[in-house]
Amino acid sequence: MKLDKSRQNISSMFDDIAVRYDFLNHFFTANLDKRWRRKIVKYITENNIRSEVIVDLASGTGDMAIELLDLNPIKVYALDISPKMLDVLRKKNKDERMVIEVAESEHMPLENQSADIVTIAFGIRNFESTENSLKEIYRILRPDGMLIVLEMFNLEKRNRLFEFYFTRIMPVLGKVISRSSTAYSYLHNSVMNFKTVKQFIELSAKHGFVHEYHKNNFQKFVYSVYLRKL
Ligand SMILES: C[S@@+](CC[C@H](N)C(=O)[O-])C[C@H]1O[C@@H](n2cnc3c(N)ncnc32)[C@H](O)[C@@H]1O
Repeated sequence: MKLDKSRQNISSMFDDIAVRYDFLNHFFTANLDKRWRRKIVKYITENNIRSEVIVDLASGTGDMAIELLDLNPIKVYALDISPKMLDVLRKKNKDERMVIEVAESEHMPLENQSADIVTIAFGIRNFESTENSLKEIYRILRPDGMLIVLEMFNLEKRNRLFEFYFTRIMPVLGKVISRSSTAYSYLHNSVMNFKTVKQFIELSAKHGFVHEYHKNNFQKFVYSVYLRKL
């Protein structure tokens, strides 16, 4: 199935589900998503990774961006193409170090080499062009800076339980709760059309990122990938 990942389509799809997004996210992952984001913060702390300026790209309702404030950064930029997802974040956030802006992955409002870390949680799979976005992330990261991606990657091998959950359970429940007829069928297609974790690491290497570590968070399809800008 051909996916429409145009900025207009993706932002209006997330605008439509914005107010119910947090509930659905926690519901479908049985709250594990919170743990996966916290582990990223733990990794940054334990490895003494510089974290003065952090960009949380595809920040949405900002759960990752809020966790990142625990690192005592000077600024966390929460960037996303969906104004309504960011409105939910504006209601949740009271911290003045957070800069919340509508911006897309291929054109970010940051100077060259100005960010220490870029995080993307469940966002990169939706980008219209992974490669152009990687180029833009490379531009804004300082040398040795880090790109951290939390994502549902395509499976290396077929998994019946996964297929059943994503094609039968999730679209039905997602439709009822989110009241969007497309968002949760899109989710399954976007995973099936995305790269495996291995392919993603290879692609990142072509754009100047060295693989440092990756963690299988769940069933060899939800991974956190840690990459360094050369
Ligand atoms: C599944 S949500 C993830 C939100 C949040 N990061 C989280 O962990 O829950 C994906 C987000 O990616 C955003 N997005 C998709 N394509 C984008 C792009 N090219 N640039 C910036 N944001 C994008 C969507 O608007 C949406 O808010």
